[in-house]
Amino acid sequence: MTSTVTMLVRAGAALLLGAGLGLAGASSSQAGGKPTITKEPFGSVGGKAVDRYTITNGNFRVRVLTYGGILQTVETPDRHGRLTNVTLGFKTLNEYVTSGNPAYFGALIGRYGNRIANGRFTLDGRTYQLAINNDPNSLHGGDVGFDKRVWSATPVTNGGDPALRLTYVSPDGEENYPGTLRTTVTYTITRDKGIRIDYQATTDKATVVNLTNHAYWNLGGEGTGTIDDHKLQLNASRYTPVDATLIPNGRLDPVAGTPMDFREPTAIGARNRSNFQQIVYGRGYDHNWVLDRRDTSYRKLERAAKVTDSASGRTLTISTTEPGIQFYGGNFLDGTLYGTSGRAYRQGDGLALETQHFPDSPNHPNFPSTVLRPGQTLKSTTIYQFGASR
Ligand code: BGC
Repeated sequence: MTSTVTMLVRAGAALLLGAGLGLAGASSSQAGGKPTITKEPFGSVGGKAVDRYTITNGNFRVRVLTYGGILQTVETPDRHGRLTNVTLGFKTLNEYVTSGNPAYFGALIGRYGNRIANGRFTLDGRTYQLAINNDPNSLHGGDVGFDKRVWSATPVTNGGDPALRLTYVSPDGEENYPGTLRTTVTYTITRDKGIRIDYQATTDKATVVNLTNHAYWNLGGEGTGTIDDHKLQLNASRYTPVDATLIPNGRLDPVAGTPMDFREPTAIGARNRSNFQQIVYGRGYDHNWVLDRRDTSYRKLERAAKVTDSASGRTLTISTTEPGIQFYGGNFLDGTLYGTSGRAYRQGDGLALETQHFPDSPNHPNFPSTVLRPGQTLKSTTIYQFGASR
């Protein structure tokens, strides 16, 4: 069954109107008009039904799956107003499920974004052993992370914009993490072409949490080649250098004088083949940058990054409440996965910018803490703001 919810938004009041109006936003023509949220069945996994929501606001359209909370497509205009899908993903649920989505295209990541050394950490005197799914470490929440769970979804409005609220309750001991973790992630699709992601989580036992989204961007269009010509700017004077297994060594090193310096907009391809030891370890960029923040209570949104594609004119500006951002240049894409447009993804065909606490924080007391205790609420916000310049 297909249902459409049309939103009339006037003077700050939102009205949700009935169902059965057909599948809005299914054509490839330009979107426009009133904001809409459309729901359609997208298959099932482990006996659980998966839905796909299409959210349109002005000339901007986003598709979200309840499987993994995946951002499947993000269509945004170029300098001539032409909509193109700028995020990497698959066409069908079957491709996400059977491949295991090894690159985590568009997915929500939990309980712990990025690596925990040897999959082990100690909290309040107890040691926890997690799945080693990225030898010798644990990556992105273990064998079956939040990216492979079916989330419950409710369409809502947020400040007059259409939004989708996703929730997932992770039982105590799931993937060997302590505590029942209740997570809510709200995607708001704003009228000025932004995706606002609000994360919230609570627990009934002390635990560690690091939530993010793993979307890959190619502002020239998904499946159109590499992002080497994209210019990246990061508001970061330091980064967390890693060892050969991509675990931080605990230092916060200055970027100055190294290929890690993106304080000025720089083409990604200019230095990603350098023999700088860190780039060699990552086979390119695969590191966490320490954002230069004024607010170190991690409550205020501050600008973190900007990506520019001069060929299409598209820009992506990222703001976050988080202390760090993982810039991963799609180094391990090897031509074996075929995306929504049917073309193979090869090395560097997209870049991920994952706002987060630092990798392996549970083993580095000098990093901002990722411990969540009963009675506390984790709150984190990131905005992906798209634009087009002449
Ligand atoms: C990691 C990469 C990893 C990728 C998974 C990134 O966040 O830093 O090392 O290969 O996720 O696709």
